[in-house]
Amino acid sequence: MHRVRDDAGEWLATKGTDQYRGGLDVAQVHANIDRDFDAHEFVGWQVGGQVVAMLAIIAPEADFWTPEELAEAQTYISRFFVTEHGRGYGTALLGAVEGRARQEGMRWLRLNCWSTNTRLHGYYRAHGYMHVRTCDVPGRPSGALFEKDLSAFSLERR
Ligand SMILES: CC(C)(COP(=O)(O)OP(=O)(O)OC[C@H]1O[C@@H](n2cnc3c(N)ncnc32)[C@H](O)[C@@H]1OP(=O)(O)O)[C@@H](O)C(=O)NCCC(=O)NCCS
Repeated sequence: MHRVRDDAGEWLATKGTDQYRGGLDVAQVHANIDRDFDAHEFVGWQVGGQVVAMLAIIAPEADFWTPEELAEAQTYISRFFVTEHGRGYGTALLGAVEGRARQEGMRWLRLNCWSTNTRLHGYYRAHGYMHVRTCDVPGRPSGALFEKDLSAFSLERR
């Protein structure tokens, strides 16, 4: 997980975004990942016995969401990474997580992501997510909130 996050930082540096730049040093980033690893479920997508995409399923964050939103039935994802781009590995994992969330009766799939990275926002939009709002919380540059209405989407697909 540490390695994949480090690689993502290097990849993003070539993408014209300030995502993951400034702020936390590497040791703190790794410590935060360790904390999440102890506290939450991580799921992965495997190809040929190798984990090629991963994400954490965490509790929605009260910094960003209203009490009403926090109370809704949802799956909340974080720490979403692939080991290789352009293969659809992330899309495959996201689809599997959405499928499981639907089976569990969740209404929403939600996440927060880097506030200024419009290409990343475009990725989520292309996968059926709607921008809810962007929160300006000091020290939290990942304040762009996205959600997918799983009930609406499953009706649409029938
Ligand atoms: C987000 C992610 C898991 C999706 O994986 P995937 O479904 O396999 O998709 P890809 O990695 O092939 O990316 C698909 C497209 O989205 C773009 N994209 C994805 N994440 C991006 C980001 N953070 N910033 C800019 N562009 C991004 C890619 O450049 C690619 O664009 P292209 O089709 O024009 O080449 C993966 O892109 C990733 O690890 N990104 C870096 C870490 C990250 O930003 N995670 C999300 C945190 S909320």
